[in-house]
Amino acid sequence: MKIRESGMPPESLWEDFFEPEKILEIMGFDNNIVNAVDFGCGYGTFTIPASKMIKGEIYAIDIEKEMVKRITERASNENLKNIKAVLCDFIHKGSGLKDQSMDYVILFNILHAEEPEELLKEVCRILAPEGKLGIMHWNYDPETPRGPPMAIRPEPEQCIKWATDLGFKLENRHDLKPYHYGLVFSKPEKEWTEGNELSTSM
Ligand SMILES: C[S@@+](CC[C@H](N)C(=O)[O-])C[C@H]1O[C@@H](n2cnc3c(N)ncnc32)[C@H](O)[C@@H]1O
Repeated sequence: MKIRESGMPPESLWEDFFEPEKILEIMGFDNNIVNAVDFGCGYGTFTIPASKMIKGEIYAIDIEKEMVKRITERASNENLKNIKAVLCDFIHKGSGLKDQSMDYVILFNILHAEEPEELLKEVCRILAPEGKLGIMHWNYDPETPRGPPMAIRPEPEQCIKWATDLGFKLENRHDLKPYHYGLVFSKPEKEWTEGNELSTSM
């Protein structure tokens, strides 16, 4: 199921809203990272620069064939061999990635999903023990030039609550001027189990 209000404007318009390298750097994305995943990668606005910063591979997942085609084309144009573009509905099927296999998970402009907690549980499953989760979203401000309708746009405090209720630890909070906020979390020390309880993994 495609996340509500997750359609994209033309690529050039979208990419004018961001300085991706700067945002990734502020969000703690660096060359200590081996493997990463970009959920709902869109045009690859962040996947492309992220792929140049890491040691291993970055998975770029999107439900739209056009987006997967575009990122594949961009990777090929720049001869980037470490981008794995995946056509997948991660809401319906999960990411398909192995448990504890990712050092950084990118959730940018995506957490207005219908069931954000389910998405965060999948993130928890695939993150390595020292892994980081980066959430970026449009400011909770009706004046931003794009972004989901205010009725479904999450405030940073809401994202923090969703994540910390699952045991994620907020490491850093950023004002990504002019239009976004950023939140960086570390993986829960205790494993999430169904039944809504956090338990030790012993
Ligand atoms: C608002 S865009 C954000 C793109 C990118 N994260 C960025 O910030 O540049 C949301 C993207 O998520 C994708 N998407 C929506 N629902 C999805 C799903 N269920 N599974 C995989 N991708 C999905 C859309 O096709 C779209 O490309």
